[in-house]
Amino acid sequence: MELKWNYVIWSILFTLMPLIWHLRRKNSYRRSKLPPGPRGWPVIGNIFDLGALPHRSLAALKEKYGPVVWLDLGAVKTMVILSAGAAEELFKNHDLSFIDRFNNDVMRANDYYKSSMVLGKCSPYWRTLRRICTVELFSNKRINETVLVRQRCVNKMLSWIEKELVESATGEIEVKSFLFPAIFNMIGNLTLSKDLMHPNSEMASEFYSALSGFSVCLTSPNISDLFPWLRWLDLQGLRRRTDRELKKAMKIISGFMRERVKQQQHREGRATEHKDFLDVVLDYEGNGKDEPAKLSDHQITIFLMEMFMAGTETTSATIEWAMCELLRNPESMKKIKAELGRVVGANKELEESDITNLPYLQATVEESLRLHASVPLMVPRKAVQDTTFMGYDIPKDTQVLVNAWAIGRDEESWEDALSFKPERFLESSIGYKGQSFEFVPFGAGRRICPGLPLAHRVLPLILGSLLHHFDWKLCESVSGRIKMDMRETMGISARKLVPLRAVLKRMAT
Ligand code: HEM
Repeated sequence: MELKWNYVIWSILFTLMPLIWHLRRKNSYRRSKLPPGPRGWPVIGNIFDLGALPHRSLAALKEKYGPVVWLDLGAVKTMVILSAGAAEELFKNHDLSFIDRFNNDVMRANDYYKSSMVLGKCSPYWRTLRRICTVELFSNKRINETVLVRQRCVNKMLSWIEKELVESATGEIEVKSFLFPAIFNMIGNLTLSKDLMHPNSEMASEFYSALSGFSVCLTSPNISDLFPWLRWLDLQGLRRRTDRELKKAMKIISGFMRERVKQQQHREGRATEHKDFLDVVLDYEGNGKDEPAKLSDHQITIFLMEMFMAGTETTSATIEWAMCELLRNPESMKKIKAELGRVVGANKELEESDITNLPYLQATVEESLRLHASVPLMVPRKAVQDTTFMGYDIPKDTQVLVNAWAIGRDEESWEDALSFKPERFLESSIGYKGQSFEFVPFGAGRRICPGLPLAHRVLPLILGSLLHHFDWKLCESVSGRIKMDMRETMGISARKLVPLRAVLKRMAT
C-alpha cells in the first residue's frame, strides 16, 4: 500500500516537473561562478548521483570535476569538498562563513534542531552547550578523573563476552552487540554516573531500534527536501517517523533524568562532593544575555541524548572496522598482539596508562579511521553568507559536505591509499586532531567533534583490551582464504552492513 502511494506521488511530481523547472530557471542563479559538477535532471537535479552510499559516489566525482564539486539536490544547492587542499582552505580561511549546520526536513521534526547542539546554528546557545561539554566532559582534567570509570566499563564488557563464550557452543560472537552497550554505559557513567544497559536488555534494543529508525529517515531521499514548498505535506511521512523515533530515544533519556531529579537526597549529597554532568546542566545558570539563563528539561534531554547518539555509534563502528581490518591483515594482527604481550604482559589487563607505550595499537586506530571515517560526510554545514571560496561564488544557505572518507583515501595525499598499513602512522606527524587536513575523521575548525578527547582514549583502550584478552579468528574461512564482507550501510555512521561475527578464545594467563 505504502509502495503504491509512493508510486502515485512520484508520478505526479514527474508529470509536473517541466513546469516547475521552467519556473525555477527564471529565478536561477548564474552557474558560471559556481564550482563544476555533473549535469542534473530538471528539478530533481543530481539527486540520483548520490546513490545509496553518497560518500562513495561523491568521491568518484573528483577525477572529472576536481576537488570542489557542485550539485543541485532538488532545491538544495550543495558544495562538496573532496581534497585535503580544499578542506584546508575551508577550515583555515572560511570556517566562520560555513559554521552553521544545514538541516534537512527530517531534522525539523518537532523543532528538534532548535534545541540541538549537533544541528544548531552558531549562536550563544550552541556556544554555551559546547563550553559545558568541553569543560565538564572532555577537558583533560575530567578525562583524567574518569579513567577508572572507563576501565570498569571495559572490564564489564570483557566479562559479558566471557559469559557468552561459556554459553556458546561455537565460541562465536557478534562484536557490535557488546561494543554498543559498553560504550553507552561509558557515556552513561560520564553524564549520569551510572550503568544504564547490558547486552540483550530491553532498553538497549529500544534505544538501538530508535537510532536505526532515525537513521533510515536521515538517509532516505525526501520529496520535502527536493521541493520545500511541499514540506507541510510530509508526503513520505519521514518527518513524522523521525519525530516518533526521537521521542522514543528521548523518553529513555528523560526517564534517567527524572529519576535523578527525584533523588533529591542524592543530589543534595552530591552538592558538596563532585557534581556530575547532569548536576551541572540541571544547576546551570547563565546571564540571560550572551548565554541562556537556564536550560529547560526539553533542552537538557536533547543535550544528553545527543551525547549518546553522537558517541555510541561512531565509536563502536570504528572499533568494529578496526577489528575487521586486523582479521583481514594477519601480519598487523600479529604485530599488535606482540606489542600488547611485550608492553602489558600476559597476566595483566590493558590500562589507559599503557597506551602511550603502544604505538602500533595507536597507529592501527588511526589507520582504521583513515579508511573508515565513521561520519564520512561529517555533519553538513551551511554557508552563513554569500562567500567567495577558491574563486567560486558560493551563495548563502548552500549545503557544504566535507567528504572525510574520500580525503582519507585520496591517492594524492596517501601512498598506496587503499591498503591497510598502520606502519604509515608510526613515523608520521599526521594526526586526527584537526591540524592535518588529509586526515579529518573528527572534522576540524570550530565545529570539530568535541568528543575527540574521549574517543582518543576509548578507541585504543577497547580495541587493545579485546585483542589482549582474547584470540580472534574469523568465522568464514574458505579453503584457507579469508573472506570478509566489507560492505557498508549508512545511518548516523557508516557501519558494516553485515555485523562482524568472530570466533574468540580466552587468552591463556
Ligand atoms: C570515533 C568516534 C567519533 C568520530 C569519528 C566522530 C566524528 C565527528 C564528526 C566528523 C563531527 C562533525 C565535525 C564537523 O562538523 O566539523 C562530529 C561532531 C560531534 N561529535 Fe563526534 N565523533 C566521534 C565520537 C564522539 C563522541 C564520543 C562524542 C560524545 C560523547 C561526540 C560528540 C559529538 C558532538 C556533540 C558533535 C557536534 C559538534 C557541533 O556541532 O558543534 N563524538 N563528530
